[in-house]
Amino acid sequence: MRMYDLIAKKRNGEALTKEEIEYLISAYVAGEVPDYQMSAFLMAVYFRGMTEEETLAMTMAVAHSGDTVDLSGIEGIKVDKHSTGGVGDKTTMIIAPIVAACGVKVAKMSGRGLGHTGGTIDKLESIPGFETSLSKEEFFATVNKAGLSVIGQSGNMTPADKKMYALRDVTATVDSIPLIAVSIMGKKLAAGSDCILLDVKTGSGAFMKTVDDSIALAKEMVTIGENAGKSTVALITDMDIPLGNYIGNSLEVIEAVNTLKGNGPADLTEVCINLAGNMLFLAKKGTLEECKAMAKARMEDGSALEAFGKMVEAQHGDASYVFDTEKFEKAAFSYDVKAERDGFITHMNTEGCGIASAMLGAGRETKESTIDYAAGIILHAKVGDEVKKGDCLATLYANKEELFAAAAKRYTESVTISDTKAKEEPLIFARVSKDGVERF
Ligand code: URA
Repeated sequence: MRMYDLIAKKRNGEALTKEEIEYLISAYVAGEVPDYQMSAFLMAVYFRGMTEEETLAMTMAVAHSGDTVDLSGIEGIKVDKHSTGGVGDKTTMIIAPIVAACGVKVAKMSGRGLGHTGGTIDKLESIPGFETSLSKEEFFATVNKAGLSVIGQSGNMTPADKKMYALRDVTATVDSIPLIAVSIMGKKLAAGSDCILLDVKTGSGAFMKTVDDSIALAKEMVTIGENAGKSTVALITDMDIPLGNYIGNSLEVIEAVNTLKGNGPADLTEVCINLAGNMLFLAKKGTLEECKAMAKARMEDGSALEAFGKMVEAQHGDASYVFDTEKFEKAAFSYDVKAERDGFITHMNTEGCGIASAMLGAGRETKESTIDYAAGIILHAKVGDEVKKGDCLATLYANKEELFAAAAKRYTESVTISDTKAKEEPLIFARVSKDGVERF
């Protein structure tokens, strides 16, 4: 097989066979196909797309390009969840314990933050002692003991995705729906769970800026998951506004704990009950309505918080922080961002809010940057709220006072205040399953 012929075939709009796709992925990982040929192929996919068969073949090839996880050592149905990422998205720390408290195992691999988005692994590591790099035996033992475990991805999983993603990043081929679907689902299939819930974010802080694009991506991923024999559902959820009120690593753990105690903000609580309910539904725990009620009950009776504490303890973290969040070290300095006029908040550039938080030290510029766990933002007003000139819109936290000026400017620029109240948008726009798309 010649890579040149495969590029030409895709350029001409033809579909590649499973064997051709398997060849191009394995030859690329082995270093036999150079980056310039792979770049040309990815650009051809960008313009020509891929068929359902090609997308499945490429996802399977990516999933098997490195180590895969065999979760058969853990009893029962294992459910995974993936979020396409956003600002203030601390849902994993809430829904994984809820689902575990309902008797469904969660063995999850999560990522670190980069750019304007946070990552669950960084957030969990703000709990003193918490280990996100466990041996396979410890990972399984934690899931069996606590019902859940969240760790970082092992070094040699999906090397094809790592290489292709780096290439896509510099060749303007990231925002291709089939390539995003292959990348996400390749990692999910390698991680070994039986069912997958996808949280596809939409809006100014998300990869996909429109609901229609988010639904198209969700359909593609659900089709791949189902064709690979995994029950898969996607929810399209709002990321036009940061989720919840806290942005930053330990701040998000604190808000997750408050939500697990039933004292979380309404938007975060609603999204989490829907996500957890759908995970339980995939695990066949009842009808969707029964599953949502079950999720709510486990928050209310404290068993979800207990499950979170058990996981923290099993992963060598100091669980007393979970039960007393006052123990988290606070940032040395704070700064209030004030409203510059009277009016209603009509828009928040969520990516801008995430960048402001990263500028305070909560995020990374590059993979090598270190992060400040205590840095971040607490929002006091969001879209729909009426404010008066001088009201506090948000409090910024940092350990270096000199970071406030630029971050406050960025935050202020990200919030639009107008004379008339904006139309309220739903938190959940659609649910995509093998049975079709349900819009809300
Ligand atoms: N997230 C991924 O894991 N891959 C993509 O291609 C885009 C978002």
